[in-house]
Amino acid sequence: MDSLLSIPRSVEWNHTHLTILNQQKLPNETEYLELKDIQSVWDAIATLKVRGAPAIGITAAYGLALAAHSYQTNSLEDFRNLLKKDRDYLASARPTAVNLFWALDRLMASIANVSSVADAKKALVHEAIRIQSDDENTCRSIGEHALSLFQEGDRILTICNAGSIATARYGTALAPLYLAKERGIRLHVYACETRPILQGARLTTWELMQAGVDVTLITDNMAAQTIKTKDITAVIVGADRIAANGDTANKIGTFGLALLAKAFNIPFYVAAPLSTIDLSTKTGADIPIEERPSEEITELAGTRIAPPGVKVYNPAFDVTPHELITAIITEKGIISGHYESVLTALFKEEIKR
Ligand code: MRU
Repeated sequence: MDSLLSIPRSVEWNHTHLTILNQQKLPNETEYLELKDIQSVWDAIATLKVRGAPAIGITAAYGLALAAHSYQTNSLEDFRNLLKKDRDYLASARPTAVNLFWALDRLMASIANVSSVADAKKALVHEAIRIQSDDENTCRSIGEHALSLFQEGDRILTICNAGSIATARYGTALAPLYLAKERGIRLHVYACETRPILQGARLTTWELMQAGVDVTLITDNMAAQTIKTKDITAVIVGADRIAANGDTANKIGTFGLALLAKAFNIPFYVAAPLSTIDLSTKTGADIPIEERPSEEITELAGTRIAPPGVKVYNPAFDVTPHELITAIITEKGIISGHYESVLTALFKEEIKR
């Protein structure tokens, strides 16, 4: 049975507009927002109403297609200039997840050979729909590969939300858990709450509980104690950008979990589609790390919890060095060893297809 039936899709294209599930409001409210212009798409991404690397890419792709539909020109040259400006605007919404730029560039490439503005508008919508449907298949394949690493009864630790609502469907790190559920394989998940925005507490637990996956919530500072006392067998996380050498940016706190996994001698897996791998970013040091507003830390559910004027450092992501990563699980299979050469070979192979 499909374990995901009860989980709403985070992004839906409705011909004249885009409907998103407002992830800011979950789990207390299931609110849908209709995005009708590029500014509201930009805002939805920047304020995390839609979040998670693949979902950000999908939303931006629809956002660009939506913007293009409003252009009142018959000149392809003018159309391309307007599109480039809007591409750059959407690309400024968040800096770390490479899927944003990947999806926007895929849309730009989709109109390379069109001969009219009308064809260009159609091609953009078509490409955005393809990005979304490809992502669903990709995530399911990631789940299949990842599940081969787990056994009945395993206890798995994760952080943030790399689940169905962070993607077209299934998720990346959570995909094997849904497939396990479908097949009657019992896995237990421990979800870190993921300060400061609480994607683990609000979203991961919500998703997994709806699908009937056994999940326990912990605060981030309970990770070491939980690994020790609950005999965690593996850590699995998603990714926002994987550099050419395998260094991986993901939600703040991920690097700490990788260090813990090494200390406890358990595997640390990164699950991500090829669209999250960026060979033009050589190492983790080259990945731009988003810093977010201080209120995310000084306030809790709208209530101030720190003295006014306190200095705050709020990086949204950290970078796990490749040597701490046991394997990267993609739709093409499980990668380990010398990431730089394996990833380069994998992309060469993809280009040939
Ligand atoms: O700031 P967020 O919530 O967009 O961060 C999301 C993550 O870090 C996810 O782990 C990552 O994007 C992978 S989602 C499949």
